[in-house]
Amino acid sequence: MAFLAERLGRIKPSPTIAVTTRARELRAAGHDVIGLGAGEPDFDTPDPVKEAAIAAIRAGQTKYTAVGGTPELKAAIAAKFKRDNGLDYAPKQIIVGAGGKQVLFNAILATVEDGDQVIVPAPYWVSYPDMVLLAGGEPVVVETSEDNGFRMRPEDLERAITPRTKWLILNSPSNPSGAAYSRDELKALAEVLVRRRHVWVMADDMYEKIVYDNFVFTTLAEVEPGLYERTLTVNGVSKAYAMTGWRIGYAGGPEALIQAMDSIQSQSTTNAASISQAAAVEALNGDQDFIKPRNAAFKKRRDMVVRRLNEVPGLTCRTPEGAFYVYPSCAGVIGKTTPEGKTIATSEDYATHLLESVGVAVVHGTAFGLDPYFRISYATSDAALEEACTRIRRATAALN
Ligand SMILES: Cc1ncc(COP(=O)(O)O)c(C=O)c1O
Repeated sequence: MAFLAERLGRIKPSPTIAVTTRARELRAAGHDVIGLGAGEPDFDTPDPVKEAAIAAIRAGQTKYTAVGGTPELKAAIAAKFKRDNGLDYAPKQIIVGAGGKQVLFNAILATVEDGDQVIVPAPYWVSYPDMVLLAGGEPVVVETSEDNGFRMRPEDLERAITPRTKWLILNSPSNPSGAAYSRDELKALAEVLVRRRHVWVMADDMYEKIVYDNFVFTTLAEVEPGLYERTLTVNGVSKAYAMTGWRIGYAGGPEALIQAMDSIQSQSTTNAASISQAAAVEALNGDQDFIKPRNAAFKKRRDMVVRRLNEVPGLTCRTPEGAFYVYPSCAGVIGKTTPEGKTIATSEDYATHLLESVGVAVVHGTAFGLDPYFRISYATSDAALEEACTRIRRATAALN
Protein backbone atom coordinates (compact mmCIF):
# COMPACT_ATOMS: atom_id res chain seq x y z
CA MET A 1 0.00 0.00 0.00
CA ALA A 2 1.44 3.38 -0.99
CA PHE A 3 1.99 5.80 1.88
CA LEU A 4 1.20 8.93 -0.09
CA ALA A 5 -2.38 9.51 -1.13
CA GLU A 6 -3.37 8.86 -4.71
CA ARG A 7 -4.63 12.44 -5.02
CA LEU A 8 -1.09 13.74 -4.68
CA GLY A 9 -0.21 12.12 -7.99
CA ARG A 10 -2.71 14.40 -9.74
CA ILE A 11 -0.95 17.66 -8.91
CA LYS A 12 2.43 19.34 -9.22
CA PRO A 13 4.05 21.95 -6.99
CA SER A 14 3.31 25.51 -8.15
CA PRO A 15 5.65 26.21 -11.12
CA THR A 16 5.68 29.95 -10.39
CA ILE A 17 6.85 29.37 -6.83
CA ALA A 18 9.42 26.91 -8.24
CA VAL A 19 10.88 29.57 -10.57
CA THR A 20 11.07 32.14 -7.77
CA THR A 21 12.75 29.61 -5.47
CA ARG A 22 15.27 28.62 -8.18
CA ALA A 23 16.13 32.29 -8.84
CA ARG A 24 16.60 32.85 -5.10
CA GLU A 25 18.87 29.80 -4.82
CA LEU A 26 21.01 30.88 -7.78
CA ARG A 27 21.32 34.37 -6.32
CA ALA A 28 22.32 32.93 -2.91
CA ALA A 29 24.99 30.90 -4.70
CA GLY A 30 26.49 34.13 -6.05
CA HIS A 31 24.93 34.23 -9.53
CA ASP A 32 23.68 37.48 -11.00
CA VAL A 33 20.00 36.64 -11.51
CA ILE A 34 17.11 38.99 -12.28
CA GLY A 35 13.90 37.38 -11.05
CA LEU A 36 10.85 38.20 -13.16
CA GLY A 37 8.86 35.28 -11.79
CA ALA A 38 7.31 36.67 -8.64
CA GLY A 39 3.61 37.36 -8.53
CA GLU A 40 3.80 40.15 -6.00
CA PRO A 41 4.23 43.94 -6.07
CA ASP A 42 7.71 45.17 -5.22
CA PHE A 43 6.11 48.07 -3.27
CA ASP A 44 5.88 47.99 0.49
CA THR A 45 2.68 47.63 2.51
CA PRO A 46 1.39 51.19 3.18
CA ASP A 47 2.41 52.61 6.58
CA PRO A 48 -1.12 53.13 7.96
CA VAL A 49 -1.79 49.43 7.35
CA LYS A 50 1.36 48.46 9.23
CA GLU A 51 0.40 50.82 12.06
CA ALA A 52 -3.03 49.24 12.31
CA ALA A 53 -1.39 45.84 12.75
CA ILE A 54 0.95 47.15 15.44
CA ALA A 55 -1.99 48.76 17.24
CA ALA A 56 -3.88 45.44 17.07
CA ILE A 57 -0.98 43.61 18.67
CA ARG A 58 -0.76 46.23 21.42
CA ALA A 59 -4.50 46.04 21.99
CA GLY A 60 -4.24 42.29 22.53
CA GLN A 61 -6.00 41.24 19.33
CA THR A 62 -3.90 38.11 19.36
CA LYS A 63 -6.52 35.40 19.90
CA TYR A 64 -8.60 33.19 17.64
CA THR A 65 -11.24 35.12 15.73
CA ALA A 66 -14.52 33.91 14.24
CA VAL A 67 -13.68 31.33 11.52
CA GLY A 68 -14.96 33.43 8.64
CA GLY A 69 -13.41 36.70 9.78
CA THR A 70 -13.82 39.42 12.42
CA PRO A 71 -17.04 41.49 12.35
CA GLU A 72 -14.90 44.59 11.64
CA LEU A 73 -13.26 43.05 8.59
CA LYS A 74 -16.52 41.61 7.28
CA ALA A 75 -18.07 45.07 7.60
CA ALA A 76 -15.13 46.61 5.69
CA ILE A 77 -15.47 43.97 2.97
CA ALA A 78 -19.24 44.49 2.69
CA ALA A 79 -18.62 48.23 2.33
CA LYS A 80 -15.95 47.61 -0.32
CA PHE A 81 -18.22 45.35 -2.37
CA LYS A 82 -20.95 47.98 -2.24
CA ARG A 83 -18.67 50.93 -2.99
CA ASP A 84 -16.56 49.41 -5.76
CA ASN A 85 -18.83 46.79 -7.29
CA GLY A 86 -22.38 47.78 -6.40
CA LEU A 87 -22.81 44.37 -4.75
CA ASP A 88 -24.76 43.78 -1.52
CA TYR A 89 -23.28 41.05 0.65
CA ALA A 90 -24.41 40.63 4.26
CA PRO A 91 -21.77 39.49 6.80
CA LYS A 92 -23.04 35.90 6.61
CA GLN A 93 -22.41 35.98 2.85
CA ILE A 94 -18.74 36.84 3.36
CA ILE A 95 -15.74 34.69 4.26
CA VAL A 96 -12.15 35.69 4.99
CA GLY A 97 -9.32 33.20 4.53
CA ALA A 98 -5.53 33.08 4.55
CA GLY A 99 -5.28 34.53 1.06
CA GLY A 100 -7.55 34.36 -1.93
CA LYS A 101 -5.87 31.03 -2.54
CA GLN A 102 -7.41 29.48 0.56
CA VAL A 103 -10.79 30.99 -0.23
CA LEU A 104 -10.76 29.49 -3.74
CA PHE A 105 -9.57 26.17 -2.32
CA ASN A 106 -12.39 26.15 0.25
CA ALA A 107 -14.96 26.79 -2.47
CA ILE A 108 -13.65 24.05 -4.72
CA LEU A 109 -13.34 21.50 -1.92
CA ALA A 110 -16.84 22.37 -0.72
CA THR A 111 -18.50 21.82 -4.09
CA VAL A 112 -16.48 19.75 -6.56
CA GLU A 113 -17.03 16.01 -6.56
CA ASP A 114 -15.55 13.19 -8.60
CA GLY A 115 -16.25 13.79 -12.26
CA ASP A 116 -17.49 17.36 -11.88
CA GLN A 117 -16.14 19.70 -14.53
CA VAL A 118 -14.74 23.17 -13.98
CA ILE A 119 -14.16 25.44 -16.97
CA VAL A 120 -10.81 27.19 -16.82
CA PRO A 121 -9.89 29.58 -19.66
CA ALA A 122 -6.20 29.40 -20.61
CA PRO A 123 -3.77 30.94 -20.03
CA TYR A 124 -4.84 30.38 -16.42
CA TRP A 125 -3.50 31.02 -12.95
CA VAL A 126 -1.47 27.88 -12.21
CA SER A 127 -3.43 26.83 -9.13
CA TYR A 128 -6.94 26.49 -10.60
CA PRO A 129 -6.53 23.17 -12.42
CA ASP A 130 -4.59 21.57 -9.59
CA MET A 131 -7.15 22.62 -6.97
CA VAL A 132 -9.88 21.06 -9.11
CA LEU A 133 -7.83 17.88 -9.57
CA LEU A 134 -7.17 17.59 -5.83
CA ALA A 135 -10.91 17.74 -5.22
CA GLY A 136 -11.47 14.92 -7.74
CA GLY A 137 -12.88 17.16 -10.45
CA GLU A 138 -11.93 17.62 -14.07
CA PRO A 139 -10.55 20.95 -15.26
CA VAL A 140 -11.92 21.74 -18.73
CA VAL A 141 -9.34 24.03 -20.24
CA VAL A 142 -10.61 26.46 -22.87
CA GLU A 143 -7.72 27.93 -24.79
CA THR A 144 -8.07 31.58 -25.71
CA SER A 145 -6.07 33.22 -28.46
CA GLU A 146 -3.85 36.24 -28.55
CA ASP A 147 -5.95 37.55 -31.45
CA ASN A 148 -8.91 37.75 -29.06
CA GLY A 149 -6.75 39.45 -26.46
CA PHE A 150 -6.51 36.19 -24.47
CA ARG A 151 -10.23 36.54 -23.68
CA MET A 152 -12.71 33.70 -23.88
CA ARG A 153 -15.47 34.29 -26.41
CA PRO A 154 -19.12 33.43 -25.62
CA GLU A 155 -19.08 30.69 -28.25
CA ASP A 156 -15.99 29.11 -26.64
CA LEU A 157 -17.82 29.08 -23.31
CA GLU A 158 -21.00 27.69 -24.82
CA ARG A 159 -19.08 24.82 -26.42
CA ALA A 160 -17.29 23.92 -23.18
CA ILE A 161 -20.43 23.60 -21.05
CA THR A 162 -21.74 20.08 -20.46
CA PRO A 163 -24.30 18.66 -18.01
CA ARG A 164 -21.34 17.94 -15.72
CA THR A 165 -20.09 21.56 -15.61
CA LYS A 166 -20.18 22.91 -12.08
CA TRP A 167 -18.14 26.11 -12.29
CA LEU A 168 -16.57 28.60 -14.60
CA ILE A 169 -13.51 30.29 -13.10
CA LEU A 170 -13.12 33.73 -14.63
CA ASN A 171 -10.08 35.80 -13.70
CA SER A 172 -9.98 39.42 -14.87
CA PRO A 173 -7.50 41.09 -15.03
CA SER A 174 -5.70 37.85 -15.62
CA ASN A 175 -2.63 36.28 -14.18
CA PRO A 176 -0.66 35.54 -16.40
CA SER A 177 -1.85 37.52 -19.45
CA GLY A 178 -2.96 40.80 -17.85
CA ALA A 179 -6.04 40.64 -20.10
CA ALA A 180 -9.23 42.10 -18.65
CA TYR A 181 -12.85 41.82 -19.78
CA SER A 182 -14.84 44.98 -20.52
CA ARG A 183 -18.44 45.33 -19.37
CA ASP A 184 -19.70 44.39 -22.84
CA GLU A 185 -17.48 41.32 -22.99
CA LEU A 186 -18.69 40.18 -19.57
CA LYS A 187 -22.28 40.84 -20.61
CA ALA A 188 -21.82 38.58 -23.64
CA LEU A 189 -20.48 35.77 -21.43
CA ALA A 190 -23.30 36.39 -18.95
CA GLU A 191 -25.86 35.88 -21.70
CA VAL A 192 -24.58 32.32 -22.10
CA LEU A 193 -24.45 31.75 -18.35
CA VAL A 194 -27.97 32.95 -17.52
CA ARG A 195 -29.35 30.28 -19.83
CA ARG A 196 -27.16 27.54 -18.33
CA ARG A 197 -28.58 27.56 -14.84
CA HIS A 198 -26.49 24.68 -13.45
CA VAL A 199 -23.19 26.55 -14.01
CA TRP A 200 -21.80 28.62 -11.14
CA VAL A 201 -19.18 31.33 -11.50
CA MET A 202 -16.04 31.97 -9.49
CA ALA A 203 -15.04 35.55 -10.36
CA ASP A 204 -11.42 35.99 -9.32
CA ASP A 205 -11.03 39.76 -9.08
CA MET A 206 -7.67 39.74 -7.34
CA TYR A 207 -6.20 42.36 -9.72
CA GLU A 208 -9.26 44.62 -9.77
CA LYS A 209 -7.35 47.70 -8.65
CA ILE A 210 -4.44 47.29 -11.05
CA VAL A 211 -5.79 48.49 -14.42
CA TYR A 212 -4.46 51.02 -16.93
CA ASP A 213 -5.44 53.45 -19.67
CA ASN A 214 -8.82 54.29 -18.11
CA PHE A 215 -9.96 50.68 -18.25
CA VAL A 216 -13.13 50.35 -16.19
CA PHE A 217 -13.20 47.23 -14.04
CA THR A 218 -16.46 45.32 -13.62
CA THR A 219 -17.33 41.89 -12.27
CA LEU A 220 -19.90 39.34 -13.44
CA ALA A 221 -22.40 39.56 -10.57
CA GLU A 222 -22.47 43.34 -11.07
CA VAL A 223 -22.90 43.16 -14.83
CA GLU A 224 -25.63 40.52 -14.67
CA PRO A 225 -27.62 40.56 -11.42
CA GLY A 226 -29.26 37.32 -12.59
CA LEU A 227 -25.97 35.58 -11.81
CA TYR A 228 -25.68 36.93 -8.25
CA GLU A 229 -27.28 33.79 -6.74
CA ARG A 230 -24.64 31.53 -8.30
CA THR A 231 -21.54 33.67 -8.26
CA LEU A 232 -18.70 33.66 -5.78
CA THR A 233 -16.89 37.00 -6.02
CA VAL A 234 -13.30 36.50 -4.82
CA ASN A 235 -10.86 39.25 -3.98
CA GLY A 236 -8.07 40.05 -1.55
CA VAL A 237 -5.57 42.58 -0.30
CA SER A 238 -2.39 40.88 -1.57
CA LYS A 239 -1.97 42.72 -4.86
CA ALA A 240 -3.68 46.13 -4.55
CA TYR A 241 -2.27 46.81 -1.08
CA ALA A 242 1.08 45.02 -1.47
CA MET A 243 0.17 42.62 1.34
CA THR A 244 1.08 39.20 -0.07
CA GLY A 245 2.79 38.08 3.14
CA TRP A 246 -0.12 39.02 5.39
CA ARG A 247 -2.31 36.33 3.83
CA ILE A 248 -5.77 37.84 3.64
CA GLY A 249 -8.28 37.03 0.90
CA TYR A 250 -12.05 37.07 0.93
CA ALA A 251 -15.19 36.26 -1.01
CA GLY A 252 -18.84 37.19 -1.15
CA GLY A 253 -21.46 34.73 -2.30
CA PRO A 254 -24.65 32.84 -1.53
CA GLU A 255 -25.01 32.12 2.17
CA ALA A 256 -25.22 28.31 1.88
CA LEU A 257 -21.97 28.19 -0.11
CA ILE A 258 -20.20 30.55 2.31
CA GLN A 259 -21.35 28.42 5.26
CA ALA A 260 -19.98 25.28 3.57
CA MET A 261 -16.64 27.03 2.97
CA ASP A 262 -16.66 28.13 6.60
CA SER A 263 -17.10 24.51 7.73
CA ILE A 264 -14.09 23.43 5.70
CA GLN A 265 -11.95 26.25 7.00
CA SER A 266 -13.05 25.49 10.59
CA GLN A 267 -11.42 22.07 10.21
CA SER A 268 -8.23 23.28 8.52
CA THR A 269 -6.76 26.66 9.51
CA THR A 270 -9.64 28.09 11.61
CA ASN A 271 -9.19 31.82 10.98
CA ALA A 272 -6.81 34.04 9.05
CA ALA A 273 -4.29 35.71 11.38
CA SER A 274 -6.04 38.14 13.72
CA ILE A 275 -3.36 40.81 13.24
CA SER A 276 -3.52 40.55 9.45
CA GLN A 277 -7.29 40.93 9.63
CA ALA A 278 -6.90 44.16 11.60
CA ALA A 279 -4.42 45.38 8.98
CA ALA A 280 -6.84 44.50 6.17
CA VAL A 281 -9.59 46.59 7.81
CA GLU A 282 -7.32 49.62 7.49
CA ALA A 283 -6.36 48.69 3.93
CA LEU A 284 -10.00 48.55 2.82
CA ASN A 285 -11.36 51.45 4.89
CA GLY A 286 -8.33 53.73 4.79
CA ASP A 287 -6.97 56.19 2.28
CA GLN A 288 -6.77 54.65 -1.21
CA ASP A 289 -4.72 57.48 -2.73
CA PHE A 290 -1.45 55.53 -2.88
CA ILE A 291 -2.92 53.14 -5.49
CA LYS A 292 -2.88 55.73 -8.30
CA PRO A 293 0.86 56.56 -8.26
CA ARG A 294 1.72 52.89 -7.91
CA ASN A 295 -0.39 52.07 -10.94
CA ALA A 296 1.30 54.90 -12.82
CA ALA A 297 4.69 53.32 -12.01
CA PHE A 298 3.41 49.89 -13.14
CA LYS A 299 2.05 51.38 -16.38
CA LYS A 300 5.38 52.99 -17.17
CA ARG A 301 7.11 49.66 -16.69
CA ARG A 302 4.48 47.81 -18.71
CA ASP A 303 4.92 50.18 -21.64
CA MET A 304 8.71 49.93 -21.49
CA VAL A 305 8.71 46.11 -21.29
CA VAL A 306 6.16 45.73 -24.11
CA ARG A 307 8.17 48.10 -26.34
CA ARG A 308 11.51 46.44 -25.59
CA LEU A 309 10.19 42.91 -26.10
CA ASN A 310 8.57 43.83 -29.41
CA GLU A 311 11.99 45.02 -30.58
CA VAL A 312 13.42 41.52 -30.10
CA PRO A 313 13.25 39.44 -33.32
CA GLY A 314 11.35 36.24 -32.50
CA LEU A 315 9.22 37.73 -29.73
CA THR A 316 5.89 39.58 -29.87
CA CYS A 317 4.08 41.09 -26.93
CA ARG A 318 0.51 42.36 -26.55
CA THR A 319 -0.23 45.34 -24.28
CA PRO A 320 -2.32 44.09 -21.37
CA GLU A 321 -5.13 46.02 -19.68
CA GLY A 322 -4.19 45.18 -16.11
CA ALA A 323 -2.27 43.22 -13.45
CA PHE A 324 1.54 43.41 -13.52
CA TYR A 325 2.35 40.70 -16.05
CA VAL A 326 2.98 40.49 -19.75
CA TYR A 327 2.59 37.26 -21.67
CA PRO A 328 4.82 37.48 -24.75
CA SER A 329 4.83 34.92 -27.53
CA CYS A 330 8.11 33.14 -28.20
CA ALA A 331 6.76 31.32 -31.27
CA GLY A 332 9.51 32.92 -33.35
CA VAL A 333 12.30 31.18 -31.46
CA ILE A 334 10.82 27.68 -31.39
CA GLY A 335 12.99 25.33 -33.45
CA LYS A 336 16.12 27.45 -33.01
CA THR A 337 19.32 26.19 -31.40
CA THR A 338 21.32 27.54 -28.48
CA PRO A 339 25.11 28.16 -28.81
CA GLU A 340 25.51 24.94 -26.75
CA GLY A 341 23.59 23.02 -29.41
CA LYS A 342 20.30 22.55 -27.54
CA THR A 343 17.09 22.88 -29.57
CA ILE A 344 14.44 25.25 -28.26
CA ALA A 345 11.40 23.00 -28.64
CA THR A 346 9.13 24.59 -26.03
CA SER A 347 8.72 27.76 -24.00
CA GLU A 348 10.24 25.82 -21.12
CA ASP A 349 13.44 25.33 -23.14
CA TYR A 350 13.47 29.04 -23.91
CA ALA A 351 12.96 29.98 -20.23
CA THR A 352 15.79 27.63 -19.27
CA HIS A 353 18.01 29.26 -21.89
CA LEU A 354 17.23 32.73 -20.49
CA LEU A 355 18.02 31.62 -16.95
CA GLU A 356 21.19 29.71 -17.77
CA SER A 357 22.72 32.01 -20.38
CA VAL A 358 21.84 35.48 -19.07
CA GLY A 359 20.40 34.95 -15.59
CA VAL A 360 16.82 36.10 -16.28
CA ALA A 361 14.10 34.10 -14.54
CA VAL A 362 10.72 34.02 -16.32
CA VAL A 363 7.92 31.44 -16.14
CA HIS A 364 7.32 29.23 -19.20
CA GLY A 365 3.85 29.23 -20.76
CA THR A 366 3.20 25.51 -20.39
CA ALA A 367 2.67 26.24 -16.69
CA PHE A 368 -0.30 28.44 -17.65
CA GLY A 369 -1.81 26.12 -20.24
CA LEU A 370 -1.12 28.17 -23.38
CA ASP A 371 2.06 27.90 -25.39
CA PRO A 372 4.49 29.01 -26.78
CA TYR A 373 4.43 31.98 -24.43
CA PHE A 374 6.14 33.01 -21.22
CA ARG A 375 5.22 35.26 -18.33
CA ILE A 376 7.16 38.24 -17.14
CA SER A 377 6.22 39.96 -13.90
CA TYR A 378 7.15 43.63 -14.17
CA ALA A 379 6.64 44.22 -10.46
CA THR A 380 10.31 44.98 -10.05
CA SER A 381 12.53 48.06 -10.37
CA ASP A 382 12.81 50.00 -13.66
CA ALA A 383 16.57 49.40 -13.69
CA ALA A 384 16.21 45.62 -13.24
CA LEU A 385 13.57 45.52 -15.99
CA GLU A 386 15.71 47.55 -18.42
CA GLU A 387 18.65 45.25 -17.76
CA ALA A 388 16.48 42.14 -18.07
CA CYS A 389 15.17 43.28 -21.47
CA THR A 390 18.73 43.92 -22.67
CA ARG A 391 19.74 40.43 -21.57
CA ILE A 392 16.66 38.81 -23.14
CA ARG A 393 17.56 40.51 -26.41
CA ARG A 394 21.13 39.24 -26.17
CA ALA A 395 20.13 35.66 -25.28
CA THR A 396 17.56 35.58 -28.07
CA ALA A 397 19.97 36.97 -30.66
CA ALA A 398 22.39 34.18 -29.72
CA LEU A 399 19.93 31.54 -31.00
CA ASN A 400 20.45 30.14 -34.47
C1 LIG B 1 -5.28 35.19 -10.21
C2 LIG B 1 -4.92 35.01 -8.80
N1 LIG B 1 -5.86 34.61 -7.93
C3 LIG B 1 -5.59 34.42 -6.65
C4 LIG B 1 -4.32 34.62 -6.14
C5 LIG B 1 -4.11 34.38 -4.69
O1 LIG B 1 -3.59 35.44 -3.99
P1 LIG B 1 -3.51 35.45 -2.41
O2 LIG B 1 -3.63 34.04 -1.93
O3 LIG B 1 -2.19 36.05 -2.08
O4 LIG B 1 -4.67 36.28 -1.94
C6 LIG B 1 -3.30 35.00 -6.99
C7 LIG B 1 -1.92 35.14 -6.51
O5 LIG B 1 -0.95 35.09 -7.22
C8 LIG B 1 -3.60 35.21 -8.35
O6 LIG B 1 -2.66 35.60 -9.22
